[in-house]
Amino acid sequence: MDKKTIYDISVQGKKVYVRVDYNVPHDEKGNILDDRRIKSTIPTLEYLLNQGASLIIASHMGRPKGEIKSDLSLTIVAERLSQLLNKPVKFANCCIGEETQRMKESLLPGEILLLENVRFHKGEEKNEDAFADQLAQGCDIAVNDAFGASHRSHASIVGVGRRLPMVAGFLMKKEIEFLNGVIDHPVRPFAAIIGGAKISDKIHVIANLMEKANVILIGGGMANTFVAAEGYDMGKSLQDKDRFNLARELKERAKKMGSRIILPVDFMAGDAFSEKAQTKVLTAEEFSDPWMALDIGPKTIELYVETLKKMKTVVWNGPMGVFEMKPFAKGTHAIANAVANLDATTVVGGGESAAVVDQMGIGDKFSHVSTGGGASLEMLEGMILPGVTILSDKEEIH
Ligand code: 3PG
Repeated sequence: MDKKTIYDISVQGKKVYVRVDYNVPHDEKGNILDDRRIKSTIPTLEYLLNQGASLIIASHMGRPKGEIKSDLSLTIVAERLSQLLNKPVKFANCCIGEETQRMKESLLPGEILLLENVRFHKGEEKNEDAFADQLAQGCDIAVNDAFGASHRSHASIVGVGRRLPMVAGFLMKKEIEFLNGVIDHPVRPFAAIIGGAKISDKIHVIANLMEKANVILIGGGMANTFVAAEGYDMGKSLQDKDRFNLARELKERAKKMGSRIILPVDFMAGDAFSEKAQTKVLTAEEFSDPWMALDIGPKTIELYVETLKKMKTVVWNGPMGVFEMKPFAKGTHAIANAVANLDATTVVGGGESAAVVDQMGIGDKFSHVSTGGGASLEMLEGMILPGVTILSDKEEIH
């Protein structure tokens, strides 16, 4: 990586501003439902504390649009963070202001101050100078470990990065290495598995990965559009009729670039979009109303699993079907298990696929499960994130 990381700086006795992404799902009682984003930053925080830094931690939660919303307060995170670090975590009720400034100033090495939700201020999303000035005030250096928010040009990320030298934390480094390095320099053969509902949401991911992968396995609602574009009647299946040309074009382009797009050979169909629907396995030729494809079928699972067995690098983004409904979760679960058990570099590209892997309790079996939703998608599209660009470059060695 050509960007500086926390290994490249000295933080002894320094006030270190750490931007994290603690936008974690929680219920109305304030119970955190998935703390992976908090846990993933612990190595960075512990390293900095062991090096003698005091930490000023900033994050957003939800989309309060510049207003104070008590259900989006980071107080619930302070408690969880304190448990995970086994240390007290001080909490500033506002991320800026005189009182917070005093708390920052009195912070001793080894102490931690978590700031309240930065999105309670309009200046955050607008990347306002005055707001970024206040966030950076009293800090010596900045660490970005907020991979999941690094596609946003907000004050707490790029604004602070313009005011303080900013380096990557361990999570950020790992995300960049896996979502960038592995994809750009894969051990071959390399397969990408792309699922999800709409082809329009994933065009850029497919276009970027077809230049790099040997095979692309398509699943989810998007597969219906590809199959229907070949002339099949897919009944009531979700399909993007305006994108048939695009689907054909993507297949052609993939062929020219030397990668193969593989489509489902059968589907688990339902007679309604419901958990209680009648189900039937159908091939593209057998489809008719009222059936709709809601998952990949058993022969497709077999084909995809066999194809994956030969791979040395696999990147997966997007479910294979409506996994939230039990009768249509088999394809997604089978692919997740197959990838988890490969002797290969395996990357789950965030969002829904990461949630599935977490639910199944198999996250540890992958080389990397991204903490980013939108951010990981943009990386898979080949974009460079503002939160990565802003990091200090490594000096050239003369
Ligand atoms: C996410 O959950 O993907 C990140 O925290 C970014 O949140 P946002 O989409 O509200 O910017």
